[in-house]
Order: sequence, then C-alpha cells, then structure tokens
Amino acid sequence: MTAGGPDAHRVHDIDRAFDTVLVVDFGAQYAQLIARRVREAHVYSEIVPRTTPVSQLLDRQPRGIILSGGPKSVHVPGAPEIDPGIFAAGVPVLGICYGAQLLVHQLGGVVARTGRGEYGRTPLEVLAPSPLFAGLPSPQDVWMSHADCITMAPDAFRVTASAPDSPVAALEDPVRGLYGVQFHPEVAHTPRGQEVLKHFLFEVCGCRPGWTRTSVIEASVEAVQAQVGREQVLCALSGGVDSSVAAALVDKAVGPQLTCVFVDTGLMRAGEAEQVEATFRGQFSAEVVHAKAADRFFGALDDVADPERKRKAIGETFIRVFEEVAADHQDARFLVQGTLYPDVIESGAPDAARIKSHHNVGGLPAEMGLELVEPLRALFKDEVRAVGEELGLPEEIVWRQPFPGPGLAVRIVGTVTRERVEILRAADVIVAEEIKRAGLERELWQSFAVLPAVRTVGVMGDERTYAYPIVIRAVTSDDAMTADWARLPYEVLERLSSRIINEVAGVNRVALDITSKPPGTIEWE
Ligand code: XMP
Repeated sequence: MTAGGPDAHRVHDIDRAFDTVLVVDFGAQYAQLIARRVREAHVYSEIVPRTTPVSQLLDRQPRGIILSGGPKSVHVPGAPEIDPGIFAAGVPVLGICYGAQLLVHQLGGVVARTGRGEYGRTPLEVLAPSPLFAGLPSPQDVWMSHADCITMAPDAFRVTASAPDSPVAALEDPVRGLYGVQFHPEVAHTPRGQEVLKHFLFEVCGCRPGWTRTSVIEASVEAVQAQVGREQVLCALSGGVDSSVAAALVDKAVGPQLTCVFVDTGLMRAGEAEQVEATFRGQFSAEVVHAKAADRFFGALDDVADPERKRKAIGETFIRVFEEVAADHQDARFLVQGTLYPDVIESGAPDAARIKSHHNVGGLPAEMGLELVEPLRALFKDEVRAVGEELGLPEEIVWRQPFPGPGLAVRIVGTVTRERVEILRAADVIVAEEIKRAGLERELWQSFAVLPAVRTVGVMGDERTYAYPIVIRAVTSDDAMTADWARLPYEVLERLSSRIINEVAGVNRVALDITSKPPGTIEWE
C-alpha cells in the first residue's frame, strides 16, 4: 500500500461490480459517516481525496458525487477547493454543509461571514418542490453545524429550503444535476436525513441498491479468486473479528489452497484457542495449524517488566513461530491480512497524525516476500460483522470486543508469569460474563480486567491477606482514538467485586479505572 496520493484510497476490484457514489473528503470524520450512510442505503460508496483530478473521478464512472462537510471556512486562506470541472461533468453532485458552501462559492453565489453560526437542531422549511424532500414533512427538524452562511444562490439555482438562520438551507440546479444542503442529512440528529440521502441516490442519481451482504461476499470471493489463481495462501488467524472474517472469505474463495495459522501465545482469553479451533476446523476446507507456543512466549517474557520490551518480545516471538510454520509451506505466495477500509483511508490521508503505531502482533515482516490478500479492504467494521454473520461465523467471534495482539500480557503490569496470567484470565472471564449478563457487551467498546504489580492488605474470614487487586477497565468509544470510561451500573460493579474476590484465588480487592482517553490509553501498557 502506498501512503498518500489518490491510489492509496483505492480498494480493490470489488467496486467494479456496483453502482458507485464517490464522497469527496473535506474532513475525514464527515466523509466517513456519509460513506457509511450511503452504503446503508445499499449503494457502494468510496471516499476520495479532494485533490483527485476530475478525470480520475470520472474514470470510476460514478453515479453521483457527494462533497462532504469540513471544518474550514471557504474564506480562510488555503481553504480546500475542488476542480470546478466537477460541476460540468454531467454527474449529479450533492454538496453537504462545507460542500454546499464550496459549490456556491465556486459557482458565483455568496457565502457570507455573518459572524453568527447555527449549531444544533433547527426547523427546515421547504420552499419549492425538490426531489430531495419529496414526501417529507415541512417543517422538519435538521441538524446544523456551520459558521458561514449561504446568502445568495449562484445563477440558475433555485432555493428549495430555508431555516431560521439559513435563508438558503437547500438549493439546486436540476438541469446540471447540482444540489446543496446546508444541514447534515448523515447524522442521526436529522431524523429524516437518510431519506434525503436516499432521494439523492435513487431519484437524482438513479443508483441501483446492489450493495448487500450477499453481493459483497460474492464480489469479494471473485476478487480473491482472480488475485490468487491456483497459488497457495497463508493466513495468521488470531480469533479476532477481522482476521476471522478475512479467513472465512478467503476460505470460501480458495479454501483448499489456504493454510490458517493460529499461534497460541498462552496469553489469550479463556477458551479462545479452543473456540478458534472448533469454529474453523469444523467449517473450513482450509488447513488449520494450531501452533502451541506458550512455552516460547513465557520464555521470551522471563523477567521482562518494561511495556515496550514486552511488546517487542512478543512480536518477535510471534514472527519466529509463524515463520517456522510457513517454512513447511514454502510454496505459499500470498498472505491474508484483515486491513479494513478506515485503515486504508487513514494511511492515504495527508495528515498522518491519527494513525496508530502499535507494535502489532501479526504485523508480519515484508521480507517474507508474500503478496497481501486483503479481502476486507473495502469494508467498514459494521460491514465486516454483517459479512461474518452471513458467512455463519458464531456470534461470539463476530461481536467480540477488540483484543490487543500481545494479549493479556499488556494487561499485567510488571512481569508476566503463568501464575499471574491465570489470575487475570480467571478475573477476565468474570468480567466478560457479568457484562454479557447485564446486556452491555455490544454497548461497550471494551471491558476487561487488569492486574497491577502491587499487593495490598485485606482480611478474609479471620485471616489477614496480602494479595493482588484487580482493576476493572470499561470504556465506550467509536474508534479507539478517544474513549470515555463507562458508567457501569452499581449492581454490575457489586457483582463483579464480589465474584472476583470470592472466585479468584490471589485477589483481595477490586478497583475501577475512571480515566478517559486521553489522557489514559485504553490498555494499561
Ligand atoms: P490504547 O491502549 O492505545 O489502545 O488506547 C487502542 C486500541 O488498540 C488496541 N490495542 C492493540 N491492538 N495490537 C492490536 O491489534 C496491539 O498491540 C494493541 N495494543 C492496543 C486496544 O485494545 C484498543 O482497542
């Protein structure tokens, strides 16, 4: 994958099978949300950098183009612009918020710096018939979030809706197929927003709603078959959602040519190794190799307390074990990787500040000389889950919370011994059970136990104890870049405390981590 440049955003050939709407990116978060909403309407959408030449956009034969919102004003020096050729290309365009202001600004209308923004819910009044608002009530609530204000539409446009602080809240030139809305149809705070988007997709652009789980699977399977041909493929299977769904897709495409390697580090959660084995051995035509390497990992971790050294020791051991298995499959030419669409967007984005730099276990070295097969490269996380369900993977895998590659080791502060892993694993099972019982599993981004390196005094029965505490860590998050500590109900905390202390030998105290990210990270190391 090359960083930067329009090609970094390209997914793979599965897009050719679908009517496509391109979302031009003027602010990554806005663009991603729009792209997801379009796909929820079963139309394939892809995010493209605003610097992409119009000729390249048109090469993709898009049915429509959406200009996303963004944080800037069209009046600040260096404000992002777009090649005006896009407005004369004969492809319908919908500008949203900044996208609408840009369209107005570049086509000769007026975007005023009124000094008075409009934020939050506001009533939108439809002034003239428009395909975007067909069948929708007027007024309807919409969500606004803008500083500048469109005060005059460009020539040939008509104003189709207004709001108290936005005289031009929607405008269109149906002859050229150009539309703009000042509000955000993509956010949940605009209750009928998805219908506005659908009207654009189906009435204006004439899209066919072909992007469904079954068609995504079919197209991915074909793309993998075309890429791999008759060659052999390796896959490092971790038991997480992404690697499991990627493996399942490749198995469906070229099962007998695939070897899945599950490296058992001894640092997994309770029952995880067994579950991966049961799931994939039963269901796959691929060979599944279960590399039981716990001894080697504990050897590498002997006396290692520093978090970075721990991660490095685990990462290196992982690579060595994987290479040994790979040595038995020297004819393999491909390696499966569970790269998702947000990773593709982030690695192509001009500002790299948001990219994670984890020492990821499973980050196998380029020297292995294997070509990557990335069947999830076009998919958002919720689509990966939907595909996983459709492929028949068990709910526990499809809905599993993220788990770090180095496993329980980064939740054990200080040295990692078998005994300490056992304590943490036993506490972790209880956390998982109680969170599930409370129905909070999917609401929380992650919920788990941490084992610090201190011991504290307690009293159990008539005995003085001197044992470890367990810390409960539970967070909500959208993407792990930021997170908030979860307000767990007291009853859940009470059950966790009492069960962990009663059931886990070596623990005499339970504490709760109430740190958000930033300043804390989600994991403790
Ligand atoms: P932090 O602790 O940095 O974690 O807030 C953010 C998210 O990344 C996960 N994480 C990892 N995932 N390999 C992974 O695949 C790793 O080495 C790793 N370290 C942290 C963490 O669980 C959280 O979801």
